[in-house]
Amino acid sequence: MKKKKDTQKVKKEEPAVPPQEQTTSRRSFFRRTWGWLALLAGAELTFMGLSFLGAGRKKEKKKAEGNFTDIASVTEVPKGSVFPYRSGRLYVCHLEDDGFIAVSLVCTHLGCSIDWDKDKGEFLCPCHHSMFDIRGVVLNPPATRPLDYYPLKIENGRILVDLGRPVTRKHFSKSQETYA
Ligand code: FES
Repeated sequence: MKKKKDTQKVKKEEPAVPPQEQTTSRRSFFRRTWGWLALLAGAELTFMGLSFLGAGRKKEKKKAEGNFTDIASVTEVPKGSVFPYRSGRLYVCHLEDDGFIAVSLVCTHLGCSIDWDKDKGEFLCPCHHSMFDIRGVVLNPPATRPLDYYPLKIENGRILVDLGRPVTRKHFSKSQETYA
């Protein structure tokens, strides 16, 4: 009988969690959850930032490398001739010193398309009769500056031109030529 009484006593003495402690425990749970969420958000932001930087660097690298298009074989452009590539709005010219240059077919006067006069070995603009030599240098006004040119490289006997980067120039120089 006495034993039963003791058990009842023990049950009564079980410590109940005071309401203040319950609130504290809930608060710390929320604090921890918010902490984890903030950490996750931070990690995600860092990841996004790094991805963005990586994409930017890739873009810059690609831009620096250029976007070269295969235009023709070097054998298709004999010395002293030009190879029209109208979809790219340019001519690939094989100069007498064996260098190659890709010149824009857009006249630097008012933007008409120039034509190659094979007999004269000159470019002629049909609009106001500007004339350019095979290097794109002005022979006859009203155009006042040479035709723009494009970065060109030769790989495995193929002529490749970066169509996305026309270069404006005031003069011709040998550095604008590429040799096979
Ligand atoms: S547009 Fe070519 S000469 Fe005027």
